[in-house]
Amino acid sequence: MNILGVETSCDETSVAVVRDGTEILSNVIASQVDVHARYGGIVPEVASRQHLLTMAPVAEKALRDAGMGLEQIDSVAVTMGPGLAGSLIVGVNFAKAVAMARDLPLTGINHLEGHIYANWLSGATPELPCLCLIVSGGHSDLIFMEGHGHFRKLGGTRDDAAGEAFDKGARILGLPYPGGPAIQNATRGISTSLSLPRAWLKECDDFSFSGVKTALLHMVEEKVTPSEQWIKEAAAAFQEAIVEVLVSKTIRAAMRLGVKQILLAGGVAANSALRDRFIADSPLPVLIPPPLLCTDNAAMIASCAFYRLASGNTESSGLDVIPGLAFG
Ligand code: KG4
Ligand code: ZN
Repeated sequence: MNILGVETSCDETSVAVVRDGTEILSNVIASQVDVHARYGGIVPEVASRQHLLTMAPVAEKALRDAGMGLEQIDSVAVTMGPGLAGSLIVGVNFAKAVAMARDLPLTGINHLEGHIYANWLSGATPELPCLCLIVSGGHSDLIFMEGHGHFRKLGGTRDDAAGEAFDKGARILGLPYPGGPAIQNATRGISTSLSLPRAWLKECDDFSFSGVKTALLHMVEEKVTPSEQWIKEAAAAFQEAIVEVLVSKTIRAAMRLGVKQILLAGGVAANSALRDRFIADSPLPVLIPPPLLCTDNAAMIASCAFYRLASGNTESSGLDVIPGLAFG
């Protein structure tokens, strides 16, 4: 089954064709990073207008890359939330039009559930039950996955999400947007003697990253003339504090639940320090999609829809966007 996936929840316009939930035939991603970088963050109205401009050309390229026309597409899947309302509307409207024109089934996908399915596109077959850590710009969620469509949220962020913390931390350090990749680049090969506090929230599976961000702000304010080397060391200390909490709490929850594997998902899972630390510390197998499938893309949405359709659970063409859509 060939599924056309559409993803426009934030600042990436993406269309993909995925065969049978696991084989990527095409995955075109048009990033708006350069457009938003000058504002230091995403401007929602600018994002929707940009989606409007790139939607059709991105879809044409996705079909061209897959070497097929719409007549070879069997089903359409689109992110319905969570995300920016104006951005989601562009993708959902486009997907509805394609589905209507070709009389195809249309599936609305939760963006966070989609992130998890990047693991089905990475060559390995995840073993269930598993524990998923979704770390993105808006979420730091621990999700227990018993089977396809069966998810239970164990914990989430109490304040800043991990990606949000990286973005805000980078701004404090004078590093460019988006902050995650900027901090990763700045800390390459750097060892640091600086240290920042960790919020362990020991009694639960929730996360909190606003404290470490404030501690970084104070550390920067106290340093009158920070050198380039000091900035890199402060970035390394900040990254270390976030990574250590994410890795330790996820492994602890996984061992408690007795799952078979840990699955990482979301933009922050592209972080090399996080990936390395998980592999080094986890007694359980850890699956991590390649970096390009960790950040927003439509292939993960198409893969998720395949398993949803296989269980007979579909949305109607009355599908609406839900910017605050919950998960698990
Ligand atoms: O999943 P994603 O692409 O979009 C959302 O659904 O939010 O995640 C974007 C977030 C941003 O906060 C970005 O700074 C972060 O993921 N990110 C990273 C890296 N690449 C992207 N954070 C740390 N290290 C990276 N290499
Ligand atoms: Zn995302």
